[in-house]
Amino acid sequence: MGVSKEDRMACSVHLSEDECRVVILDQTQLPNRQVYLTLETAEEIYQAIKVLAVRGAPAIGICAGYGMYVLARQKTAESYDEFYKELSKDGEYLISSRPTAVNLSWAVKRMLSVVEANAGKSVPELVELLHDTSITIHDEDIEMCTRISEYGLSLIKPGDGILTHCNAGPLATSKYGTAIGPVLLGKERGIDFKVFSDETRPLLQGARLTSYELQKAGVDVTLICDNMASLVMKNGWVQACFVGCDRIAANGDFANKIGTSGVAILAKHYGIPFYTLGPTSTIDMNCPTGADIRIEQRDPEEIKNMWYKEPMALPEVKCYNPAFDVTDHELLTAIITDRGIVYPPFDVNLKNLFA
Ligand code: MRU
Repeated sequence: MGVSKEDRMACSVHLSEDECRVVILDQTQLPNRQVYLTLETAEEIYQAIKVLAVRGAPAIGICAGYGMYVLARQKTAESYDEFYKELSKDGEYLISSRPTAVNLSWAVKRMLSVVEANAGKSVPELVELLHDTSITIHDEDIEMCTRISEYGLSLIKPGDGILTHCNAGPLATSKYGTAIGPVLLGKERGIDFKVFSDETRPLLQGARLTSYELQKAGVDVTLICDNMASLVMKNGWVQACFVGCDRIAANGDFANKIGTSGVAILAKHYGIPFYTLGPTSTIDMNCPTGADIRIEQRDPEEIKNMWYKEPMALPEVKCYNPAFDVTDHELLTAIITDRGIVYPPFDVNLKNLFA
């Protein structure tokens, strides 16, 4: 499958026409406003990731890849050592914007490894190689999302009810997305599903992004509050749960948006298959278990103040606001990757995936 420039430009993250800046669709303003931001400096890229203007593990990785290229082309360093030192510093800074999604450090390291492997080349030549690698990272993601969507689609039947949490659609990735990719691919082929989208407190990715993307695509989507998932499952309306992932450990434990593990526990109770869908770039074989995944803590204001006309809690109230939780691999039916569907035992079968 070939990826065209039009395919890339249609994504929520891409390079500007003159290839000097990173362009992102500002996800904080959806669904009310479609605003594109252009990012040029390391601070702008860091900030866009930090405030979730660009979010979703694969999209953050794509943004970091393009960001490293855009920053590399601004360097005035003439020697290899100086160039590498400055770019590594930028990379470390970008990685520090969010800790949980492995795609961020994965993309930065991949970009730096190209520089390391071509130490004999001039700075302009290195910049050209970084350009090509950033495009490759994006193209690979488009292809991986397509394959993940195909595998996911093979597991569900027309008319099935699918419950999803957070947003793992085109905005968070490229092309079809991961967790809602099978539904969008099915729609293209005239196969309809019913999706239940958890609103996903506190930042409402399910309400603002997933239900927006699916509604626009003509999919039958019902928005529910997170605490309604149990009832919807009990009613028999859900035949499968599809969620994304930010980092999959070597034993199959995985981090995803806060609340995912609760959905997995409910699914087990009601005997509903529970899948996570993600590209191989989200699998971290250097991370043995979920206990080794660093979970981002975010500003309490997101719980108390954001989205409301008036504060919804006293300013002095203590808050606990982890952005992600870890779902135990024992709750997972399978991991749907671009290289195939991985079933338990996950420690053995994930290793085989990379063999
Ligand atoms: O904090 P966010 O919105 O970046 O969290 C995103 C998620 O948890 C997604 O489910 C995950 O990144 C997969 S996106 C394909």
